[in-house]
Amino acid sequence: AANYAHVLVSRPQPAVALVQLNRPKALNALSAAHFKDITDALVEADADDSVGAMVLTGSDKAFAAGADILEMKDKTFADAFTNNFLANWEIITKLRKPLIAAVSGYALGGGCELALMCDIILASPTARFSQPEISIGVIPGGGGSQRLTRIVGKSRAMELCLTGRMFDAYEAERWGVVSRVVDGADGAKKEGGTESISPVVKEAVDMAATIASKGRVAAIACKEVINASFEMPLTEGLRYERRLFQSLFATHDQKEGMAAFAEKRKPNFTNS
Ligand code: CAA
Repeated sequence: AANYAHVLVSRPQPAVALVQLNRPKALNALSAAHFKDITDALVEADADDSVGAMVLTGSDKAFAAGADILEMKDKTFADAFTNNFLANWEIITKLRKPLIAAVSGYALGGGCELALMCDIILASPTARFSQPEISIGVIPGGGGSQRLTRIVGKSRAMELCLTGRMFDAYEAERWGVVSRVVDGADGAKKEGGTESISPVVKEAVDMAATIASKGRVAAIACKEVINASFEMPLTEGLRYERRLFQSLFATHDQKEGMAAFAEKRKPNFTNS
């Protein structure tokens, strides 16, 4: 993997790429250069044939404390508009392989929005989310008003975006913002020799390894149809799902997966 100034890239499992935001002095505030490193590292992992799934994480204190306020404070409307400020963030949503966010500490503003662009969010009990932009004279700009609203509904989204209040890991779990809170103690027990990696990251890496062990073509198709459900009316979405389902009968992994079931053995997927 290439070297990046603001992210660390590792391979905690052979088929799992772990991308860690690494700008600790600014609580992983997302400057333009930081965000470019994040997207470059993820695009590189996404294109790597040996990677089946990816994990994005921050530090124990902060997943990311938002867009870099010091960098944006003097920006003009003309500059923001002409250069389509933040439009490049959508690169994250174009990745084809499953991406899991492991969130500890602050996930604020753009940090919350970055997590919401991932396919699955796991949270540690310390996770704190918010869309605080209203408190600095703006509104969410990385998809918060749209993605959060689709998940938590109008009244909660209005409350959160209009007051900027933080919500914790358990509220996020109740509302479906995160799929699960990974309890520190349980995670630590399972950890064995890898204590340098936090329980939530460990759980996300294990989940990514499970996903990577499935047929790659089916995993990518699965991500694609679920994401399509946010863009399409139900009839179109159902048609799209059925067509992709049918097309998987052209793959070796479908033949292998179903043969393995019939023969009561483990499948040997070849991602083809
Ligand atoms: N931008 C730039 N720098 C930031 C930052 C941000 N979003 N968040 C934290 N930092 C920096 C601080 O400036 C500080 O740097 P120095 O040590 O050089 O002074 C360092 O990180 C540590 O921060 P604090 O001293 O404030 O730490 P704390 O523990 O007292 O507070 C915090 C933590 C509650 C997260 C607080 O830093 C905070 O409120 N940060 C801003 C959160 C925010 O408003 N985010 C939204 C940004 S707007 C946005 O994201 C737009 C969008 O939709 C894309």
